[in-house]
Amino acid sequence: MKLKLAVLGSGSGSNMQSIVDAIEAGTLDAEIVCVLADVPDAKILERAAKHGLPGRYVSCAPFKTKLDGEAEQEYIRIMKEAGADTVVLAGFMRIVKPGLLAAFPNRVLNIHPALLPAFPGLHSWKQALDYGTKVAGCTVHFVDAGTDSGPIIVQKCVPVEEGDTPETLHARIQVQEHIAFPEALRHLAAGRLRIEGRRVIIG
Ligand code: GRF
Repeated sequence: MKLKLAVLGSGSGSNMQSIVDAIEAGTLDAEIVCVLADVPDAKILERAAKHGLPGRYVSCAPFKTKLDGEAEQEYIRIMKEAGADTVVLAGFMRIVKPGLLAAFPNRVLNIHPALLPAFPGLHSWKQALDYGTKVAGCTVHFVDAGTDSGPIIVQKCVPVEEGDTPETLHARIQVQEHIAFPEALRHLAAGRLRIEGRRVIIG
């Protein structure tokens, strides 16, 4: 069934771009019904405008690191009014709380720049580099009440190369993110995802 996506972001929006590209190429049965940013000049809003998608900044004040309280209610109201059935966290740098999860049960997806459960939290590519792992990657997962802890849908690996900097490693991971997110959404749109405990069965 055609997905009605609400995309939430804080930054560049390259992951949203990969989803837009897949929709425009006809390889993902979805429509982006709203794009919301918690940063007024986030590039994700520019990208949305360029593709004629309804995008807007919505403040999350007074909270700095989470979406909660009245701001959470406002986000939910806007997404519901836009007809969203699925929430895509595409570089949204806040913790979402149970209120939003309850409004979209098992329909909130996030992309994380590490092979979870390794390196949750911030700057995960740098954490991998500092730790000295030989592989890194990304994870698309359903969001639950924890941080980067929900059931995993898709993961992609990349090698860590000699001489990598946080920037070069993140750039290599992002190439895979742009494949992984549309892939996960394609499974969701086709009704192929079933959550069994911690596991997501793709069938
Ligand atoms: C990505 O690395 C994603 O994994 C993380 O935030 C970054 C967002 O990048 N959650 P973009 O805004 O989609 O370009």
